[in-house]
Amino acid sequence: MDLFEYSSRHEIDERSHYEELCRVVNHNNELYYAKATPEITDAEYDRLYHEIEEIETRHPEYKTAESPTQRVGNDLAEGFAKIKHPIPMLSIDDVFEHKAAPRQETDEELIDFYKRLGQALGEVSPHVVVEPKIDGCAVTLMYRGGELAYAATRGDGNVGDDITTNVRTVKSIPQKLPSGAPNVLEVRGEIFMPSAEFDELNAQRDAEGLPAFANPRNATAGTIKLLDATEVARRPLRFLAHGMGAYDGPPLHCMDDYEHLLAAMQIPYNKPILHAHSLDELRATVKEMDRRRRGLGFGTDGAVVKLNDFARRDELGTTARAPRWAAAFKYLPEQRETKLLGITVQVGRTGVLTPVAELEPVLISGSTVSRATLHNQDEIARKDVRIGDTVLVEKAGEIIPSVVKVVEAKRSAMAQPYSLSEAVGGVCPSCGAPVSKEEGQVAWRCTNFACPAQAVTRTSYFCSRAALDIENLGGVVAEALVNTGLIRTPLELFKLTREKLGALNLGTTKDPRRFGEKNASKAIDSLERARKFPMERWITAFGIPSIGSITAREVAKYHRDINELANSDYLRTLVELEDSISAYNKLNPESPSNKGKERAGLESQRAELLRRIHGSAATYMERGYLSLEPDGKNKLRLVNPIGSVSCRKLLAYWESSAGKHVLNELHELGILPVSDCYVQNPAEGKQGPLTGLTFVLTGALSIPRDEMERRISAAGGKASGSVTKKTSYLVAGEGGGSKREKAVKAGVPIIDEATLLRMMQPNEEL
Ligand code: IVH
Repeated sequence: MDLFEYSSRHEIDERSHYEELCRVVNHNNELYYAKATPEITDAEYDRLYHEIEEIETRHPEYKTAESPTQRVGNDLAEGFAKIKHPIPMLSIDDVFEHKAAPRQETDEELIDFYKRLGQALGEVSPHVVVEPKIDGCAVTLMYRGGELAYAATRGDGNVGDDITTNVRTVKSIPQKLPSGAPNVLEVRGEIFMPSAEFDELNAQRDAEGLPAFANPRNATAGTIKLLDATEVARRPLRFLAHGMGAYDGPPLHCMDDYEHLLAAMQIPYNKPILHAHSLDELRATVKEMDRRRRGLGFGTDGAVVKLNDFARRDELGTTARAPRWAAAFKYLPEQRETKLLGITVQVGRTGVLTPVAELEPVLISGSTVSRATLHNQDEIARKDVRIGDTVLVEKAGEIIPSVVKVVEAKRSAMAQPYSLSEAVGGVCPSCGAPVSKEEGQVAWRCTNFACPAQAVTRTSYFCSRAALDIENLGGVVAEALVNTGLIRTPLELFKLTREKLGALNLGTTKDPRRFGEKNASKAIDSLERARKFPMERWITAFGIPSIGSITAREVAKYHRDINELANSDYLRTLVELEDSISAYNKLNPESPSNKGKERAGLESQRAELLRRIHGSAATYMERGYLSLEPDGKNKLRLVNPIGSVSCRKLLAYWESSAGKHVLNELHELGILPVSDCYVQNPAEGKQGPLTGLTFVLTGALSIPRDEMERRISAAGGKASGSVTKKTSYLVAGEGGGSKREKAVKAGVPIIDEATLLRMMQPNEEL
């Protein structure tokens, strides 16, 4: 599965790696919150998110508004009216279970939470309740005068999407409450899909050639955001209440009161609710909940601990994010032992071969697991996984389970070590072409661009939302298209007719199943739409290794259209500059490795290199497409907005037969992807600390004059050659004669270089 390619650090430099991480996390955020199927596991998501945070602390300069750390997750979608929540819908703070370790409790965080709660209340043993944490979608149901007034999603916590029409199709939700209902009752709870019904739904989708949902929560999120309520009615949704928003009715003092009210109103409530009156009771109760939750028939990802008394809840209040009176205890993901029966090899979109564990089926968190990823050969070696081993498999509410480790104590003498390269015998298991492994990389790749396995994964990626967003062309359809020989490359999709596509057989010869005219029409329509999509979507769709949508957008800023990109002088210059600068830095006479070498010789070679570097950088520096910066002692650094590895991968792509083929096909199809974010001069019009100011430079400065001018324009200012009344400041270094006089005459203030540099700092008061 090539989902794991992005995490092989060896492949990409840090900047590209960072951008790719952001792309993957944002993309999955979108999938997670607004329907569809996420492509990575929750655990993987957390890991990637933390890696982004970690890189950002070391490289704050990488951070943009696009970073997932700068965005608030929300589920708001187009096509729905917005509803302002009378009381915000908050989150809950998590407390995590830990692996057993010496001198440490696995529920340490829970103990801390309970102690803090007690301290805040001035009570040693507060009375709390423990409930299952349902893994579904938060919704709020507003009843006014006993009638369902509206139903809404959490949205961003303050404003949600109006999903009343869809919610009215959920049978367990009453439209009208029995007599005696409070004037206002806002019930908060969870909509979810029970596990068995979820499996059934997926089986049905599979039979219809539709992509399967990754898990029940995603199926639910996708369903409540459907615009067609009759389709929603067909999906097995359920609702359970777990909280309260606005309320106007007889006073409620504690959980028991609320439970009684809901029971009387025939609103289904999340059960069981267990009570605890001390720390020991709480710890035992949380353990008890772990046992009970398995028999509930729906997914749970923890236990919610809440203070029982409502008046005391109000005393503690909430933070902007979550109430102080509740916590969600997150159980460690369930792990199970099973036998590793064999290892198969999957070929991904870019030809990466991924070993997959074929397991003796085992039930984990409510679903049967028979395959798990082994990532790559290095992982197999590191974990010393052998065929026939008993392995520990983990699934954290997710899609692709993974092999955690081998249970060594259960290893038999018969267990067979595995080598991916031996297993495939140097050839791709899908097409038989040779496989290769680049230096420093962990992955083996199929070298054949026309490999059918690649064609399938490349086509479904080409059609995915981040790329060209082609309706109805998921994995199953892509596979059928390639296998029946209708297409060999994604671009051949544009040659399909409605009739041909409609007649596509998604079943078997014995049991045929047509794709159908209606589905075909939708797909063809979105293909037509995609013809006019901006270049960055197309670059993303090509699936060039390490070029995700963020890098694609950056690339589109510097190239007008795909032809310019395919023959990019700019990319070539960046790569040449990287090489000459690294040669220049190596010739540094100050560097210890050059000790004993003749200084004059080094200096003259450097001077020659520097002349060449400036020669090729000049035009692009002027336009603000790159810059050269001093880098420590006597060294230079290239500021390359696209990133070194991305530049090389792009150049290699357009030189490869794959890239040439794509370009030709685009010409033939009459498709010319054009950039919609091209900037002639990115530095121009930029807002910064120097916006609106004009500077004239004179005398000797510590860095080259053109470099200083570039920095001024990068900070939003203008540099000009001669002093006029419009000049804001004259920046004077050592020496400098006539300009200084002119400035004095014109009343232009004169500052030194240090002052200018200080002015460039963001938010610095002078
Ligand atoms: S109480 C102020 N109880 O988990 C929020 N929430 O991760 C108090 N959830 O947004 C919510 N089961 O949608 C509560 N038994 C339960 C829950 C539960 C699931 C959801 C809820 C919340 C999210 C926070």
